[in-house]
Amino acid sequence: MNVLLIGSGGREHALAWKIAQSPLVETIYCAPGNPGMARLAKGVCVDVGVKDFDALKTLIREKNIGLTVVGPEDPLAAGAADVLGEGGHPVFGPSAAAARLEASKTFAKDFMARHGIPTAAHAAFDRAEDAIACVKEKGAPIVVKADGLAAGKGVTVAHDEDTAITAINEAMVDKTFGDAGASVVIEEFLVGEEASILAFADGNMAIPMVSSQDHKPAFDGDAGPNTGGMGAYSPAPVVTPEMMPEIQSRILDPIVQGMKQDGTPYRGIIYAGLMITTDGPKVVEYNVRFGDPETQVVLPRMKSDIVPVFLACCKGTLDQCEIAYHDGACVSVVMASGGYPASYPKGLPITGLDEAETDADVMVFHAGTRLEGDRVVTGGGRVLNVTARAEDIPAAIARAYDAVEKIHFDNAHYRTDIGRKALARLEG
Ligand code: AMP
Ligand code: GLY
Repeated sequence: MNVLLIGSGGREHALAWKIAQSPLVETIYCAPGNPGMARLAKGVCVDVGVKDFDALKTLIREKNIGLTVVGPEDPLAAGAADVLGEGGHPVFGPSAAAARLEASKTFAKDFMARHGIPTAAHAAFDRAEDAIACVKEKGAPIVVKADGLAAGKGVTVAHDEDTAITAINEAMVDKTFGDAGASVVIEEFLVGEEASILAFADGNMAIPMVSSQDHKPAFDGDAGPNTGGMGAYSPAPVVTPEMMPEIQSRILDPIVQGMKQDGTPYRGIIYAGLMITTDGPKVVEYNVRFGDPETQVVLPRMKSDIVPVFLACCKGTLDQCEIAYHDGACVSVVMASGGYPASYPKGLPITGLDEAETDADVMVFHAGTRLEGDRVVTGGGRVLNVTARAEDIPAAIARAYDAVEKIHFDNAHYRTDIGRKALARLEG
């Protein structure tokens, strides 16, 4: 079978790497893909944008695609699963209606409230003065979220009222996020440690994968500005085995049941971003696609072939899937361009990729690279996800950083403390 994979980041490289291991798969067409995906023996990059549905439909027809997997949220929110799935073509990813769980914070919060899903208390506003009045009434710390998709920049965790009011004005008056900030959600501040649970869903049921944790701030010790994610590890010891039944029954099952009742069945990945509080796990956000960089540490731990699982999600037969994982751990360190998440140079030559991957348990996923001739150069903020598997978290951290040492580009920036929270917990 040929597979079409939509997207071009580190998450999609990890997906392509995993899909490529399936004996069912002949060729993976990546739209538009990246140089890391092009290096896979089964990988072919095609110069088609993630929302160019006409060109994607042509590709599905001409390349005899048997399964389409959508990586990012943007095309899903724009209806990729609906449009590309016309005529019964299997597309892994939720419909636009179901993707509102990520595309609209108001929709997600209302849905959670209606279904009794544990989450921060909230109120939604479409007038700045009402939102500001709410902040003044509740006081800080408090969280301000632009309603729509704002490329991960629409959330302000405000430790004082002024910061919250500035965030409201930026979203609603200055329209920094365009229409995405036309309404805002004001949320209770949750205290705890974050973790991510990704789950497969087929419209009827959800099966969680192994847990993971992202590192969003740019610098060591969780200092500095928020980023798209500077590293990840799996498993996340903050999620104990005892918590999983509660996560299943209170956080995953209600999504599947609620969406089915509402006539918008949920098929694809449910990404539950959790805060593990003293009152148990609460949902910080739902996303409707694989996490980035969580995918890069979860998929290397997956033992089962992922392609039958994707197809089962499309068909509604997930109950027939057994999904197994490797014991041990996986750690991924993001090597970013110096300056990221603010401005940074592009086009810097990258060396040491092959040396780093001589270890079979090291995978270097490309996130922001491009080819100049046959040279791989930097092409984005987050450049590489240097990923290692090992028997436990300490060994995986050591192996990942050994590989990082072998890779060079000018002014590379990475955190040196990926996985430290797990170590602290494991050491008790
Ligand atoms: P989101 O885009 O909703 O994931 O928010 C981005 C980040 O803001 C999250 O990963 C959390 O670190 C933080 N955050 C969001 N909502 C809350 C909340 N209610 N309480 C505390 N932190 C939050
Ligand atoms: N790791 C955060 C996200 O994928 O949204």
